[in-house]
Amino acid sequence: MNRLTVNALRAIEEEMHRLRRYQTVPLFYDPIDYMLDLGGKKIRPLLLWLSCGMCGASPERALPAAAAVELLHDFSLVHDDIMDNDATRRGKPTIHVKWDVNTAILSGDGLLGFAFQKLLETDCDDTAELARVFTRAMIIICEGQGLDKQFEEQEEVTPAAYLDMIRRKTATLIEVSCELGGMIAGADDATLEQLRRFGLNLGMAFQMQDDMLDITADEAALGKKVGSDFEMHKRTILYLMLRERLDKAVFDALDLAGYRRALNEAGILAAVQKQTEDYFDAAWRALEHFPASPYKSAVGEMLSSLQKRRY
Ligand code: IPE
Ligand code: IPE
Ligand code: MG
Ligand code: MG
Ligand code: MG
Repeated sequence: MNRLTVNALRAIEEEMHRLRRYQTVPLFYDPIDYMLDLGGKKIRPLLLWLSCGMCGASPERALPAAAAVELLHDFSLVHDDIMDNDATRRGKPTIHVKWDVNTAILSGDGLLGFAFQKLLETDCDDTAELARVFTRAMIIICEGQGLDKQFEEQEEVTPAAYLDMIRRKTATLIEVSCELGGMIAGADDATLEQLRRFGLNLGMAFQMQDDMLDITADEAALGKKVGSDFEMHKRTILYLMLRERLDKAVFDALDLAGYRRALNEAGILAAVQKQTEDYFDAAWRALEHFPASPYKSAVGEMLSSLQKRRY
């Protein structure tokens, strides 16, 4: 990680901890503080911060909005872990396991409130437009999460439906993080379009990698349970492609080890890896539109390391 990114990361973490609290309520705040201290890769706020710099403005202006996208992401994770029945996140017990489901619902709600509060603290010419884009993203994430749950019970899910679902649940927030950075910098429409294209393609690749890591990752490095998607009958692209190849009875009889073996033998992991590379290539092409700067170099470094990620 280069110096620019390290400094941005520190500033983002400090900003996220500066929350305006009105009352001491441990039941509400303890799990929120726990979540904030869990870390995470922080790719969304870093992309927002660096996008603002890449568009020629001082990224310091973007700090509250950067904290806002990470708080929104954290909200989605706390509720996602209830929905996906997952006991581990970022290498630690999830909030609904360490406390209980009611507490996790409440702290997720709180994180969402703090996300909006931070966003509205951003010094920008058109804060209402920032709020409009952010709110739309929040609703689209919920649509994606709804589709993800709906698909668990659905026999027929097409690859196109899968792509639409991951675009909503994951790629949209990455896209919007880049866009908001540009908006705060006052970037023109053509530049904002390139930022969206960059973020959307990176976001699609990112969720496909996440789906593969559920099968291939080292659990300790991943910080979440390997095989969770398999257990929950998630309609990932891996699932859809293998389901098409095998008889239902054979498919239904697979345990996790058999599922992993079958995905390898059928060349499905390799095929999905190739699709992921195509999305990364599209993200690189969008990045080419930006003039050389230390911010652009830092975004390039992030993209390269995400392309190789094992967690
Ligand atoms: C996890 O996101 C949820 C997905 C969209 C796949 P990250 O992999 O960015 O999670 P953290 O924030 O680094 O823990
Ligand atoms: C996460 O998808 C999407 C959101 C949290 C909105 P996953 O359910 O695949 O994420 P992980 O694998 O639990 O991090
Ligand atoms: Mg999920
Ligand atoms: Mg999940
Ligand atoms: Mg996942």
